[in-house]
Amino acid sequence: MVVLAALGLVAMIQEPIVIVPQPESLKRMEGKFVVDRSTVIVSGAGAEAKAKQLAEFLRPATGFELPIRERAEANAFDVALDAKLTQLGSEGYRLVVEPKRVILRAAEPAGLFYGIQTIRQLLPADVFSATQVRAEWAIPCVEIQDKPRFQWRGLMMDSCRYFMPLDFVKKTLDLLALHKMNVFHWHLTEDQGWRLEIKKYPKLTEVGAWRKHSLVGHYNENRGNPKYAAERHITVVPEIEMPGHAQAAIAAYPELGNTGRQLEVSTMWGVHTHVFNVEETTIKFLQDVLTEVLDIFPSKFIHIGGDECPKDEWKASPRAQARMKELGLKDEHELQSWFVKRMDTFLDQHGRRLIGWDEILEGGLAPGATVMSWRGTQGGIAAAQSGHDVVMSPTSHCYLDFYQSKAPGEPLAIGGFTPLDKVYGFEPVPKELSADRAKHILGAQGNVWTEYIPTPEKFEYMAFPRASALSEVVWTPATGKDLGRFMAGLPVHLKRLDHLRVNYRRLDGPAEAPFGEWKSGEVGETPVVREWPLPEIPGAGEYAVTFSYSGGDHRLDISWAEIVAEGKVVARDEHEGVTGGFDRANVYRFKVPGPLKGAVLRARVRADGGSDSNGGLTLHRL
Ligand code: ACM
Repeated sequence: MVVLAALGLVAMIQEPIVIVPQPESLKRMEGKFVVDRSTVIVSGAGAEAKAKQLAEFLRPATGFELPIRERAEANAFDVALDAKLTQLGSEGYRLVVEPKRVILRAAEPAGLFYGIQTIRQLLPADVFSATQVRAEWAIPCVEIQDKPRFQWRGLMMDSCRYFMPLDFVKKTLDLLALHKMNVFHWHLTEDQGWRLEIKKYPKLTEVGAWRKHSLVGHYNENRGNPKYAAERHITVVPEIEMPGHAQAAIAAYPELGNTGRQLEVSTMWGVHTHVFNVEETTIKFLQDVLTEVLDIFPSKFIHIGGDECPKDEWKASPRAQARMKELGLKDEHELQSWFVKRMDTFLDQHGRRLIGWDEILEGGLAPGATVMSWRGTQGGIAAAQSGHDVVMSPTSHCYLDFYQSKAPGEPLAIGGFTPLDKVYGFEPVPKELSADRAKHILGAQGNVWTEYIPTPEKFEYMAFPRASALSEVVWTPATGKDLGRFMAGLPVHLKRLDHLRVNYRRLDGPAEAPFGEWKSGEVGETPVVREWPLPEIPGAGEYAVTFSYSGGDHRLDISWAEIVAEGKVVARDEHEGVTGGFDRANVYRFKVPGPLKGAVLRARVRADGGSDSNGGLTLHRL
């Protein structure tokens, strides 16, 4: 009895071990390993790059420059490849933490990398910050054996509707790596903007990356990203949309369209009727684009979109109709299928594989195609039944641009309702599939479309912690999933995200209650300078104020905003922002030099088209 009571006490005072995603097996042992200035990293042959990454991950918070050695007696991380560990696959690892040694083994470097992510999460949460002062950095003794359930563990970023800056793309890759996710699906072309520079067709970005309302940038730096991702064992899967969602490309090169008319890059969201024509020259154009895409992105899978391609223009175009006859096709669905098959053949000839949204099933699936099932799971089931590979990403569970709460105060979203527990509960393998067919389910992915996500802050708000939940869907064995355990541990994991300055959605709602508001009748068409008292600012740092429209017929335009204390402007952000309908640049950032009490937020605002506009202002520290 005494012994049991003592054991109970030990269990009570021990911090729970929270690793997201939950490993396949985890056994807690007695004792701890202490990392200090004298700790070394022992690297086996072939593990040097991973050993170096371990040192780099630990350095910012600890300040320790852990040396990498060939051997050491004690107080060492021992990182080595072990070809015998094949039962853990190419991404699995074994981690044994003993009081004098941390032994990490994997068959391949990816497994070591994931073991390192687990080591990071076994340390106190502030290991994710810049320099921290700590008496000791302790890792509890454990034995972990771990490997992913699925090979495709993805997140999609839409960089078309709103430009997402390069640093933010890198931060997102870092967050995916932390969650052991390995596919970054990058949506790069759209009606509203073409984001990838193509040397042969410069107008795609010179013209196609810009729209009249809401100025958006284009990426010249994309070419460096696959390497950054590869070091984190993430594959960047680029998406070049065809034959629909093509208006920006047609605006740049009208000969790609069906009408010959000069179009503009679209300023409206939704499904557009302007799609690529089916001329041989257009096929060649797009294959030239893909040739450059293949040069930039080493990914085996290349996404060609394929979704939401209205057939109106093909039906109305004598050229498209003639082409259909010439090719012996019976309808426009078969014409789309023919289009996609041309790309499938092309990618196959170049040693790559085509993936597309589930509409590519219509009119007949291309022989080598993999299907990304988004309109529910039926498309994925049909594709798997016919022997094609599938990535599950149904709107019901995987659309991270949908609302995550029905409570008031939630920022504007595209619609839908996908709360955290629903994402967590997603089962990627449909019951309809036999074990044999289930092998075609490569995994799942969350999609962050950005029509209503103009800033990195809001992207993070929508993506996390739902992407954390998704990481267990795709990594943890189905039998190891447990919503209660996940939710109980989540506050520990969110502390890590705090240290990483991720603007995730707090479990109790939007990050901050509004400190100010504007109401119908208060702001009209003529710009006014308004002031709102700010809450106390506790110390120097970077702060953001978000203007969020909540209702009414008129949006709010903001010309500038500043923080004023004792009559003096302390910090100012001058740029045009909009909130309402869709938000654009509606976050104002301020470098505040020290604590402030009794300060106000002053801004020049107008309501566009009338005075029926309502909304609130929130403050958060960056
Ligand atoms: C999609 O959401 N249109 C794939």
